[in-house]
Amino acid sequence: MSSLEALKKELVATVKAANDIPALEEIRVTALGKKGKVTDMMKTLGGLDPEQRKQMGQALNQLKDEITAEIESRAALLKNAALDKRLQEEKSDITLSPRPWPQGTIHPISRTVEEVSAIFAEMGFSVSEGPEIEDDFHNFTALNFPSGHPARQMHDTFYLPDVTGKTGDEAKRLLRTHTSTVQVHVMQTQKPPIRVIIPGKTYRSDYDITHTPMFNQIEGLLIDKTAHMGHLKGCLIEFCKRFFEVDELPTRFRPSFFPFTEPSAEMDIGCSREGGELRIGTGKDWLEILGCGMVHPNVLQNCGIDPNEYQGFAFGMGVERITMLKYGIPDLRTFFESDLRWLQHYGFGPMENF
Ligand code: DAH
Repeated sequence: MSSLEALKKELVATVKAANDIPALEEIRVTALGKKGKVTDMMKTLGGLDPEQRKQMGQALNQLKDEITAEIESRAALLKNAALDKRLQEEKSDITLSPRPWPQGTIHPISRTVEEVSAIFAEMGFSVSEGPEIEDDFHNFTALNFPSGHPARQMHDTFYLPDVTGKTGDEAKRLLRTHTSTVQVHVMQTQKPPIRVIIPGKTYRSDYDITHTPMFNQIEGLLIDKTAHMGHLKGCLIEFCKRFFEVDELPTRFRPSFFPFTEPSAEMDIGCSREGGELRIGTGKDWLEILGCGMVHPNVLQNCGIDPNEYQGFAFGMGVERITMLKYGIPDLRTFFESDLRWLQHYGFGPMENF
């Protein structure tokens, strides 16, 4: 057997014996690398006579190709085997039954957001979200709070350090004080007709029995060419009946003020507080549920929508408040204490329908 054939046999055998990719790479280097055996033999070609050099050169090239092919096919085999092994090891048995509830629960806030979203989805609204860190424009100016307007002070805003290189309102960054900011983002980026609801976290520097520095709101926005106050009322009355599960729910709309709506209103639902117990849907008392109104033409204008062509309504409500009312949760602060007993009591199972 020629020395070439012997070398080929030896190399093929080592390739076949290699058990992983690094070992294969080592073989490639010792055979075909700069100082490898085949390369060494190539270097001797110069000393041969022309005919021998041609034959030997071809033979060496062929050997090189064959060994490369051997290495590649062995590498493919090893990679497949490694993948099979991994798949085998990482296999998860999806036939396992779910852990018995209650191990973990869905937080009442998440539950309410899902419920409200489902009710409005049936009325053709989709869900939008926006950033919690905002600029002054989206939180105030675009929403028709002029610079220095007292309504700005009422928001107990958490300000962040000013943006460098800017001055005045333009430099102000803050934690959004309401989800109305997302109305602005939506109107700036979507063409009417628009129907969105916007759940999200909001922040105000306030802490007592009825206020926490972080709380949740759900905002609604509808813009088209014909929407009017009657549509606003119909939509919100239907929502409250569905959410509080009372068919004959008394409701009323009281005139109010928000800079971003005109006219503005607050919506109340009927309740009784007899014997210290709150019952929704009966009695002579009223409970405030949300703020609403027709989107102010200035707001449409600020967001690039022509108020001569489009109009619409908006509303906003506190998620904690409607959750407390619906599920009889007495203290706002308990929502954020992460007390396991509370979570198991007030939380919901993942499979529970509404
Ligand atoms: N942004 C108001 C707040 O935080 C709530 C609100 C009231 C939102 C009326 C609206 C609206 O969209 O029309 O108190």
